[in-house]
Amino acid sequence: MRIPREIVDRVRERIDISEVIGRHVRLERRGNSLVGLCPFHQERSPSFNVVPHKAMYHCFGCGNGGDVFKFLMLVEGLSFVEAVKELALAANIEIPERDLTPDERRALAQRASLYDVLEAAAQFYESTLWTRPEGQRGREYLDKRAMPEGLRKKARMGFAPAGRAPATDALRSKGISERQLLEVGLLRASNSGGGTYEMFRERVLFPIRDERARVIGFGGRLLEGDGPKYVNTPETRLYEKSKVLYGLEMARNAIQQRDRVIVVEGYFDVLAMHDAGFSETVATCGTALTPDHLEKLRRLTTNVIVLLDADEAGSRAAEKVLPMLLAAKITPWRLQLPGAKDPDELVRTEGVEAMKKAIERKEPLLDWVIGRRIDRAGAHAMSRERVLNELAPMLKGLPQALASAVAAQLHLSEQQVFDAIKHATAPPTSPGQAPEIEVVPMSAPAWRPTRDITHLVWLLVHRYGAVADLATRIDPALLDGHEPVRAAVARLIVGEPVASIASEERHPDVVRLLHAVVAKEGLYAESDAAIAMCEVIERLEAPAVEQRLQLLMRSQEEALRAQNMEAQRQAGTERMALLAHRKAVTAAVRKGDVAAWIALRPRESG
Ligand code: CTP
Ligand code: MN
Repeated sequence: MRIPREIVDRVRERIDISEVIGRHVRLERRGNSLVGLCPFHQERSPSFNVVPHKAMYHCFGCGNGGDVFKFLMLVEGLSFVEAVKELALAANIEIPERDLTPDERRALAQRASLYDVLEAAAQFYESTLWTRPEGQRGREYLDKRAMPEGLRKKARMGFAPAGRAPATDALRSKGISERQLLEVGLLRASNSGGGTYEMFRERVLFPIRDERARVIGFGGRLLEGDGPKYVNTPETRLYEKSKVLYGLEMARNAIQQRDRVIVVEGYFDVLAMHDAGFSETVATCGTALTPDHLEKLRRLTTNVIVLLDADEAGSRAAEKVLPMLLAAKITPWRLQLPGAKDPDELVRTEGVEAMKKAIERKEPLLDWVIGRRIDRAGAHAMSRERVLNELAPMLKGLPQALASAVAAQLHLSEQQVFDAIKHATAPPTSPGQAPEIEVVPMSAPAWRPTRDITHLVWLLVHRYGAVADLATRIDPALLDGHEPVRAAVARLIVGEPVASIASEERHPDVVRLLHAVVAKEGLYAESDAAIAMCEVIERLEAPAVEQRLQLLMRSQEEALRAQNMEAQRQAGTERMALLAHRKAVTAAVRKGDVAAWIALRPRESG
């Protein structure tokens, strides 16, 4: 699809770039521009500039710069067309879609429409909170809870007004149907009769956003009176609560930079923590941590601090997640706040310093669980052995040092601990567990890492933060012909520490490769890593593409000989498309345009 140039220009002109970038970067005014910490590289003092009157941004630190579309493409992973569409919607500018083929139109509509519906809804709720008379009660409630305005903006908080169907009415005028509202979970069919009712009424809303900051659902807090304190979007095609972490899109950079994540329980808690500077905080949305949540976090850090309620239910929850965390090779910590307060209360009543102190007192979750079990079972040798046997299954496959620490805490010998672990049955498989390591037969043809493989592994080891997103787009066929390294690469992609991979790897050449890569420094700068990854992936895929082209050429020739014009044309079209695609990909790499490169990848499912 091509969007006419005038429209692109009009959207760019109409949109306030500082407002869009302000959703991702905290900006402060300095002269004619706004400055903040660059989201594209790590820095301590701000060199990222937004120049609203030029509708541009530029970072003097890493050189990244461009217009609002480029920013959205990079930060939210959108294609150019998606970025323009998203902002056109916000600016109320219509994009003529007549240039699309029917297939393109259908595909685009299906994917985009649900996000667009939720975005329009979020904007309606936001404007209600900020500017409409019906939003008064929501504003008062947030004032009462001392929620700063900047934070409300950043979190895109909203208010669902009272009334029969206020959101439905407002959104209908934007061409959004009841069916669409049902599909995104904003409307529900009522049990009696064929009517519908709105999910959120008279509630302060927290939009729940995915990693690309697209709204996928809402959590709504009751102001007062009867009814459940929180209501959340039901499961929809876009919103699966077992996978969503509230605040992740705001916390992502901090999690990577600080190499830890704090997991709390509530929406207000997340925001209070961010406000207090602990922006590495996320929450589950009214559910316990799941393996899918951990999978998301593990790509960013392996240090997970669980901050659950201090009551018995919270403690039991903390105990329950331990095996899952250990199985995911995560280092779990437990944090207990003084006075049984939740994080929001502690920060508001006692301040940032109190929170800082509390965090310093975090303790390894495993130690805490062992202590709790000993307390319950008693300290006799026999009780301690029983505790050991209970714990042994989840200790399988963990580093030896950990087993020694357990021995010390239980006052048992290391040998006893090792034996118990050896005889324990493995815990049920969960994600993050090491994939089976292939046993390489003696007669396997010699394999040597090529330059591309070495660079791929180097980028995963040394520039994980910059390339992890790209790496998840790797097609398994990429490593055809490099089977020995396949398992190690798969584990690097999900963020396992290279040391543990190398220590378990059996293929001597892969072990050597891993060690050599670890020792080698500075192959690519942080800012070059992403595009280097694109290039490496492309080169590894090149032989398969070439083969496909040859094949198509041959079937074209055959079809021609058999006078099968239809088949001839089909193969021809596919070949031309593939050639054009390859050219576009090469151009994207040459230009260093990661977003364009991503846009050219086959779409991820879901
Ligand atoms: N929750 C929910 N449904 C409820 C109650 C709670 O989904 N009926 C979820 C929400 O995600 C909420 C979290 O559990 O944010 C924590 O709930 P709770 O501890 O009860 O409340 P707080 O977060 O302390 O909320 P508040 O500060 O608004 O009282
Ligand atoms: Mn609370």
